[in-house]
Parts: sequence; structure tokens; C-alpha cells
Amino acid sequence: PVKIVTIGGGSSYTPELVEGFIKRYDRLPIREMWLVDVEEGREKMEIVGAMAQRMWDASPYKVKVHMTLDRREALPGADFVTTQFRVGLLNARVKDERIPLSYGMLGQETNGAGGMFKAFRTIPVILSIVEDMKELCPDAWLINFTNPSGMVTESVMRYGHWDKVVGLCNVPVGAMLDEPGAIGRDASELVYRFAGLNHFHWHRVFDIQGHEVTDQVVDAYLAGKVSGPANIPGLEFIPEQLKAVGMMPCMYHRYYYLQEEMLRHAIEEYNTIGTRAQQVKQTEAELFELYKDPNLNYKPEQLAKRGGAHYSDAACETIASIYGNTNTHIVLTTRNNGALPDLPPEVAVEVSAYVGAAGAQAVAFGPLHPAQRGWLQLMKNMELCVEEAAVTGDYGMALQAFTLNPLVPSGKTGKRVLDELLIAHKKYLPQF
Ligand code: NAD
Ligand code: G6P
Ligand code: MN
Repeated sequence: PVKIVTIGGGSSYTPELVEGFIKRYDRLPIREMWLVDVEEGREKMEIVGAMAQRMWDASPYKVKVHMTLDRREALPGADFVTTQFRVGLLNARVKDERIPLSYGMLGQETNGAGGMFKAFRTIPVILSIVEDMKELCPDAWLINFTNPSGMVTESVMRYGHWDKVVGLCNVPVGAMLDEPGAIGRDASELVYRFAGLNHFHWHRVFDIQGHEVTDQVVDAYLAGKVSGPANIPGLEFIPEQLKAVGMMPCMYHRYYYLQEEMLRHAIEEYNTIGTRAQQVKQTEAELFELYKDPNLNYKPEQLAKRGGAHYSDAACETIASIYGNTNTHIVLTTRNNGALPDLPPEVAVEVSAYVGAAGAQAVAFGPLHPAQRGWLQLMKNMELCVEEAAVTGDYGMALQAFTLNPLVPSGKTGKRVLDELLIAHKKYLPQF
């Protein structure tokens, strides 16, 4: 029987996780589930934890949901630790988005100045979790969702020296769910190959005769048949450019391939309905009202308004595949090990992998054309600088990361945004 510990248990996404575990119980017999949060999230955890218990009680399985504000109470004997915390909650994200936008640059949960600051706040916390795991559950797997998922996962390997970790994201899951229908195929007739970085990957698609059908996916996208995550504005890639890439980019590439248009759109929202975090706070409040209902014992429809829909498919499938040693194809962040020869072997990449008891075995993707290789290497090196700055608290390194980041113009305005964000988030940045 399996013990699961979920850090950031007060997240409104928790019911989705429970649903995913209930669906897979025959393959993954869970004995107990622990939710861990901090004082700031206590009320959220109590509401969503009661909801999680009702979901289990309505299922055929006897599982107890424990809640604690002390993760050292939860960790002993854990088999899998999943992380879905947000340091500073959504109020911190509002600042990540609004401050850069007020200087005319994109601020986004995982991209640009905001994404880098989310990494600065998160990486010290994940490293302290790893220290506790070394002591209290040295055999456990760490299944990380906390964004920026790629950088957070890489820090665990690079600075935490913990290899039993994978980083997950719902974006590839969404693509593999939406695209087959859009090209008139069933998912079982297609083979997917992903490679790149978290929120910056591309993919190719083949049919089971081995013919590449990526072009059909690109055409279906251009015909408006493929949507994408709820949180990313649906601006269309420039067709000629998209066709030249020869791979299907993820929807987050819009921030880079269409920086000007995405910035304009973000400024419009900033001036009218508010940034994404401000919108999400509304959705979150509605969700918690629903979760308070003592008769609600299933995941409500409204959760689909959040960008992370289907994340539990990635999480629960990964855990079930490790537990059952099934060697299932899953897209996740793991060590490169040559899958992308344009990057060093030790860095973290988000790729197609086969997942079993020994973890994730990344599938070789091969070298990229210089047009995309340039992006890949720039973004990876930017990430490495962000992680180094997050660990050392070195101001010069943070400024270098800002300068490398394509969404931050170099020069004094970038420095001013860095300074203002450092002040705004001071409470959560003891290292600086
Ligand atoms: P949220 O604002 O609800 O935060 C989740 C919980 O984390 C809160 O209850 C908060 O109190 C708690 N928390 C904060 N600091 C903590 C700490 N030090 N230890 C334990 N708990 C702590 O967040 P959300 O909107 O539900 O998202 C949760 C996280 O998951 C975010 O980091 C988000 O970016 C990430 N996410 C990732 C994906 C993905 O594709 N990888 C998908 C969805 C969400
Ligand atoms: C998904 C991403 C997640 C991200 C979420 C944001 O596209 O994969 O990593 O956290 O969207 O959704 P939200 O509803 O919080 O804006
Ligand atoms: Mn993601």
C-alpha cells in the first residue's frame, strides 16, 4: 500500500489529484494521503482536505486524508511526494504579472521577469523539502508540479543532489488529448515525440505505420481545430513561421514567437479585466465556495477554467507507472542524457520518456535546426542562471538572467524591474 504526501495540499487543484488516484486505484493501491500546507494556506487546506476525504468516502476505497502544517510529520515513510505549492499564493503571482507589465514587459506565471521571480521564491523551499526527504523518506520519489516546473526540478537534481525526481506539466497531456481528433485520428493510432524545456517544447507526431503526420497537426492548428491550455491567450502563430519550424511548438511559444502581440494583449487585460492571476483569484474563490458544500463529493466542472486541467493525468499516471514498472510513455522533465544533443547531458529537459521502476528513460530526439537550437540553448542557459541566482542570492547573477531572458530588454529598465520585484517579494526571498 502506497503513502502519498502532497505539499501545497490547499491548492484548488487537489480534487483533480484525488480523482486521478481513484480512477487508478486498481493499479495504485493508496493507503493514506497527507496534505501539507503552511499557515497562510491553512483555511484552504481544511476546506479542500474535507472535500478530498468526501471524494474517497464516496469511492469504493478506504483512504484517510491527513492534514498538517508540519511537513516533517507527513514525510516519514512516504512513497511519493508530490509538490504543488505556490510560495506567496496568488497575491505573489499578481505582483509577478503586474510589475513587469507596468514597465511595458511581459510578466507571466512562468515566463519573463515574473517566472524568474517565481523560481527565486520557490527554489529555496524545494531544496529544504529535499533535505527533509533525505532524512525522513530517503526512498521516496519526488513528483514536482510546482512552477516553473523545469527549473524547480533541475534545481532538485543540480543543487539538492536528489535524482529520484521528475517534473510534470499538463500541457503535453492536453496536446495529446486534443490533436488526434483534430486530424481525424484516434490517440491509439499516433506516436508522439516531445523535446525541449518545460513550457518551451516542440513535438512531432507519427502514425503507427511510421509516417510523420506533424504537418497535419500544424494544418489542423492553423484551421483553428486545436485549442490549448485555458490560461494562454489564443493568438495565432504566423503560418509561414510555424510551417518553417517543422515541429509543433507548445502554446507557450507564443510568448517568444509573437512577443509583440502577446505583450499588447497582456497590457490590454492589465488595463481592463486584470491579469490572469487576478482573474484566477475569482475562479479560485468560486471553487472554494463549492468545496465548502458538505454534499459535494466529486470534482466540479468549474475547475476546467484553470489552465492546469488534466495535470492529475500526468501525476497519477507517472506514479502508477513507477509503482507498477509499466514503462509507459510520459512527457516529463528529467535529465537530458543525450536526448537533445544540442544541450549538455546533465541538464534537465522536458521530453518523451518511458517511465518505470527505475524512473524516466528519456527518448533520443536528435539535434535541432539552428533556428530552434538557438532558442533552446538561450532558454536553457537563462534557466541555469536563474537557478544559480535563486540558490546563491547573487544580485549580479540575477541581473545576468534578466539580461538573457528574451522577454526582458537589457539595460536600466530591466534592472529597475528586478529591483522593484526584489522589494515587492522581500518576505519570500531570504537569500537576496
Ligand atoms: P495556490 O496559490 O493555491 O497554492 C497552493 C498551496 O501552496 C496554497 O494552499 C499555499 O498555502 C501552499 N504553500 C505555499 N507555500 C508553501 C510551502 N512553503 N509549503 C507548503 N505549502 C505551501 O496555487 P495553485 O494555483 O493551486 O497552483 C499550485 C502550484 O502548482 C503552483 O506552483 C502552480 O504554478 C503549479 N501548477 C503547475 C502545473 C504544471 O503544469 N506543472 C499545473 C497547475 C499548477
Ligand atoms: C497550464 C500550465 C501550468 C500553469 C497553469 C496556469 O497551462 O501547464 O503550468 O500553472 O496553466 O493556469 P492558471 O489557471 O493558474 O492561469
Ligand atoms: Mn505547466
